[in-house]
Amino acid sequence: MSSQDIPEENLPAEQDHHAHGAVSVADERDPFSDPGLPPHEHRIQDIDERAAKRSERVVAMLFTVSMLATVGFIASYVTIPKDKAIFVFPIGHISALNFALGLTLGAALFCIGAGAVHWARTLMSDVEVADERHAISAPPEVKAKVLADFKQGAKESAIGRRKLIRTTMFGALTLVPLSGVVLLRDLGPLPGTSLRHTAWSKGKLLVNMNTNEPLRPSDVAVGSLTFAKPEGVEESQEDFQNVMAKAALMIIRLQPDNIKDKRELEWSHEGIVAYSKICTHVGCPISLYEQQTHHVLCPCHQSTFDLSDGARVIFGPAGHALPQLRIGVSEEGYLQALGDFEEPVGPAFWERG
Ligand code: FES
Repeated sequence: MSSQDIPEENLPAEQDHHAHGAVSVADERDPFSDPGLPPHEHRIQDIDERAAKRSERVVAMLFTVSMLATVGFIASYVTIPKDKAIFVFPIGHISALNFALGLTLGAALFCIGAGAVHWARTLMSDVEVADERHAISAPPEVKAKVLADFKQGAKESAIGRRKLIRTTMFGALTLVPLSGVVLLRDLGPLPGTSLRHTAWSKGKLLVNMNTNEPLRPSDVAVGSLTFAKPEGVEESQEDFQNVMAKAALMIIRLQPDNIKDKRELEWSHEGIVAYSKICTHVGCPISLYEQQTHHVLCPCHQSTFDLSDGARVIFGPAGHALPQLRIGVSEEGYLQALGDFEEPVGPAFWERG
């Protein structure tokens, strides 16, 4: 229904001549009798109480949904286990808790915003108000002064006569922004797949970090913690620290009966398990092993991982279990990797669930 169809007595009282955004008579303050604004259209809610009630109900419904979403947020926080993962297409496996918290909090905030916008657009005051401004154009004498100053400056710089300077100056000003573009190259090469791979690969021997000798299963005693590096990675090489920041390995021998996680058992050799030494919180090297409980502790923020149960997090801020390296024994009887880690080591650069 347009305002043209509405009986005169139903229309709201006008505030003043600015309320309709148009003036019909030119005067000194408003030199334009018709500034080009369309005539004001009254909203259906302003003249139909039933429509206003409908809008009120929509706003109330949005606020109610927001309340329910907030209750859902709290319920999710209390009831969903931290380590539960769900599959969400097309993202893949993600943390069920994070997903529920994000969804409910997003819905709660969205409904508050949508309710407020709908309220403002349909029920709040619909009066158009003209914002008076001072004249934008400068007085003629100021314009003349600026123009004279500009001409004087151009004359004194001799830019009109010195064509060589003018041309080279424009060339310099055009080229100088290219420096900034070239510097973008310093952001470094694209990482490619390097974030997903380490120096481990199928057949690489596990080399003891202390003795620099390949490890045999008999070198790893129950209760000891051994640190290893991939065969061929030497301290003398330039990128040693960078390589080991991803490849550092800790090796522990457990009694096979004590290994609770089925995959961990399959990826071990006679109870010897190999895990990334890089904490999945912010990447500190893990170094403390408690042999009675099979827990390892990160000294930085006390994240604790249970090596007898897939290195899952049992305490602290780390969000993910330590990645395990699948190992076996070579023909010569040395411990060897049967591939690379199957997940990114250290603090994940994506949500792994
Ligand atoms: S880096 Fe290990 S707990 Fe923070």
